[in-house]
Amino acid sequence: MALERRGASIDIVSVDKQYGIGPNAVIALDHIDLRIESGEFLCLLGPSGCGKSTLLRILANLDHQTGGEIGVDAAGWDVENAMVFQDSGLFPWMDVETNVRFGLDTRGVPREEARKRVDEALTLVGLTRFRKHYPHQLSGGMRQRGAIARAFVTNPGMLLMDEPFAALDAQNRTILQAELVRMWEQTGKTVIYVTHSIEEALLLGTRIVVMTAQPGRIKTIINVPFTHPRDVVTLQAEPEFGKLKLDIWRVLEDEVNRARAEMAL
Ligand SMILES: Nc1ncnc2c1ncn2[C@@H]1O[C@H](COP(=O)(O)OP(=O)(O)O)[C@@H](O)[C@H]1O
Ligand SMILES: [Mg+2]
Repeated sequence: MALERRGASIDIVSVDKQYGIGPNAVIALDHIDLRIESGEFLCLLGPSGCGKSTLLRILANLDHQTGGEIGVDAAGWDVENAMVFQDSGLFPWMDVETNVRFGLDTRGVPREEARKRVDEALTLVGLTRFRKHYPHQLSGGMRQRGAIARAFVTNPGMLLMDEPFAALDAQNRTILQAELVRMWEQTGKTVIYVTHSIEEALLLGTRIVVMTAQPGRIKTIINVPFTHPRDVVTLQAEPEFGKLKLDIWRVLEDEVNRARAEMAL
């Protein structure tokens, strides 16, 4: 079976997340309401500690909300392995191919189908030539490609990405951003992408959700008017880009300051 072209739509209804109880309780998410359409590229933007990773982990079933409901439009879609973190998380003792195949092996996908899917995922991210390499033999950018292949190989409805390129140098980041947009267009996946960079959100997203400082709430949602694929340099020259960047910064500024003040306490 080939990588199906599909993206989940997700209904987040009044979702709360509280860590701990009593006086030490932290309210990480406070009544999050959000409908994400199939095939969207949604960027989550907000100050550190506002609950971005928490929301992503809940969507990935790695954690559970303490209140509210999450509906995904097709029951049984496999979302557990669709997460990509800042650190690739590839197993150092496995070569790239084995890392990518791992999620299929644990699910008991038949050998022949697994082979096809791994080939396809490696082709998608451009790592075919490096399939026998171990993570330590790869650059940071290539390791992130491996992590993306591993996410795609299970053919999830959504791809959950938590600052996946934050640790890369600027050139590699730019290359991988463009590649990710290509993969997103090619596969129709719904992407939820956490970043703290306004520029990155404007470069990648179809919509940007700006969150408040902890407790995380949705402060505002921006529709990004630019068509894909977007070129960084051209985009930066557009007056609309500069205007949106400033608008979003104004919204975010208060929250960043609030988060900073909290941390200084
Ligand atoms: N496992 C945990 N136990 C207790 N508090 C947590 C835990 N994980 C996150 N938090 C708290 O929840 C809030 C949101 O964290 P997080 O989702 O990591 O924010 P972000 O990804 O936006 O920086 C923060 O105040 C953080 O300290
Ligand atoms: Mg985080």
